[in-house]
This record gives sequence, structure tokens and C-alpha cells, in this order.
Amino acid sequence: NFDGVSSVWLFGYGSLIYKVDFPFLEKRPATIRGWQRRFWQGSHDHRGTPEAPGRVVTLIENREARCKGIAYRVSPSVFEHLDVREKNGYLRLTIQLTFEDGSHAEGLVYIATEDNEAFLGHASEEDIARQITSASGPSGPNSEYLLRLAESLRMLGEECPHTFAIESHMQSAHNVDTKGG
Ligand code: BEZ
Repeated sequence: NFDGVSSVWLFGYGSLIYKVDFPFLEKRPATIRGWQRRFWQGSHDHRGTPEAPGRVVTLIENREARCKGIAYRVSPSVFEHLDVREKNGYLRLTIQLTFEDGSHAEGLVYIATEDNEAFLGHASEEDIARQITSASGPSGPNSEYLLRLAESLRMLGEECPHTFAIESHMQSAHNVDTKGG
């Protein structure tokens, strides 16, 4: 718990990068080491349904990897709001953040581990693109989530080949649908 703490860093690597529906005191690009972003978490309550779950990002451990996102300095009360928004299998982990000036801070991050019941795990990027294309939930189309994330990552200068490969597969599938051949 956050007894006596006035603010906490929250690291966002998914929808928190572009969907900021909570108050924050400060916002800074930051990197974490040892984790990579993957569309391996199922979403049956936000970007899909129980019958056709979507796919959203989680972090998977990889000693060689790094992941860039946005860190928000927030009041501890923000977690009461986000713990509801980010249900569906995510838990909070404490991690070290590195800011662009090389300084460090401790922060919290939401991750969905493989032991949660919505976890889907590895699939080819082509299959992930197909699944995302056909999923939609209360928060909107899963494709919108993917496209907004890809766009935000480009603006951040974050190389995430996994996300960009899924985006390319979706765009070429779309071209086949609309232009034929
Ligand atoms: C994120 O952007 O960091 C995030 C958003 C939703 C669930 C988990 C993480």
C-alpha cells in the first residue's frame, strides 16, 4: 500500500501511452530493461468478447530486451481508478525506470502473467493480426487499439518490431479485402 506516499511513478507501455483518463503530476518517456511488449493477453471485456476475445499487450520477461513507454507521476489514489480499468488479469509489479537523461526511479507497471485465465500466449504475428481484425468489445475495435499503439510507439521512437509486424499484416489483409487479389 501507499501509506504516507504523495506520488508514485506509473509506467505505461500499452493503452496508457495514448489513453490518459487519469490526473498526473508529471509525464516522462522512460525505458525498462528485461521485458518485451507482446500481444499475448486475451481481452474479453475491453477489446473483444468472451466468444471472440481480442489481444492486447502484456510484458514478457527477456533479459536482453528493453521496452520504452511513458511514465506518469501520479497520486496513489489513481490506482483505485486504474485497478478497475485494468482488470482482466493484470497485476502490479515494481520495476526500475530509466529516464532519457539516464536517471532512475522506481515505478509500478501492470503486467498479465501466463497464469491468468485470459492469457493467450504466443501465436504468429499473422494469426495475431487476423484475431485483432475480427475482435471488438466495449472499449471499441481491437484494430483501433493496435493502430493507436503503433502510432504512439512511432512518435516515441520505440522500435517494437512485433507491434509493427502485426500492423503490417493488418494493413495488407485490408488491402486484399478492399482492392481484391
Ligand atoms: C499499459 O499501458 O501499461 C497497460 C494498459 C492496460 C493494461 C496493462 C498495461
